Amino acid sequence: MNARKINIVESKLSILHKDAKKDYMRIGKGVVKSIFRPMQPSDFEHAYLPISKDQGEALRQIIIDHNCKQVVEFGTSFGISTIYFADAVRQTGGKVITTELLESKAKKAAQNIKDAGLSEFVELRIGDAMQTLKGDSNPIDFLFLDGWKDLYLPLFKMLEPRFHKGTLIYADNMDMAGTRLYGEYVLKNKTAYSSQLIHDGKGLLTHVL
Ligand SMILES: C[S@@+](CC[C@H](N)C(=O)[O-])C[C@H]1O[C@@H](n2cnc3c(N)ncnc32)[C@H](O)[C@@H]1O
Repeated sequence: MNARKINIVESKLSILHKDAKKDYMRIGKGVVKSIFRPMQPSDFEHAYLPISKDQGEALRQIIIDHNCKQVVEFGTSFGISTIYFADAVRQTGGKVITTELLESKAKKAAQNIKDAGLSEFVELRIGDAMQTLKGDSNPIDFLFLDGWKDLYLPLFKMLEPRFHKGTLIYADNMDMAGTRLYGEYVLKNKTAYSSQLIHDGKGLLTHVL
């Protein structure tokens, strides 16, 4: 791999992770907005809410080690996780389909992915994942769940027909209440799935049996 390409990716990731450290202010503003009504994604329009560097590096390696080519991501935000996945599929010869509800976030993500030199490995869809990911039928090798937590289970069920033996699913933020139904579904279904909590219990990595 060309050393310059690696440096562009790593330096863009480093800038984005550094800026994401200021998320606590952005999240605070979002939480205030949702005092009198349920939280909604637009309350966090200015926040990255990203995976950590450790998670990104581990998931990039998992995608490479398992030679995953078709990667689907729910919840792009500003593209930090997408950049890790796109860097991985550049090496496996695959593609990332990622989807973000908010147009302003998707536009920034597209720019960040471009800055990292990875646009050709990413298809970014704008809108509700339940709509933007409906209708595809090609197999999924790696699915990343990181959007609105209540949608993990319905989205997983919608995409389930596209799983195959060896498909990997990583669900982030399993310590959040909204993920409970999803966790129960995959953990109870032991004939179809084998799962383990990793990253200090934040991530649930599931193998399709
Ligand atoms: C936790 S952030 C994603 C962080 C990103 N994966 C990363 O690590 O850099 C969740 C994102 O999902 C988006 N989102 C929420 N509901 C969605 C939906 N129904 N469809 C698509 N995106 C959604 C939010 O707008 C938010 O930007």
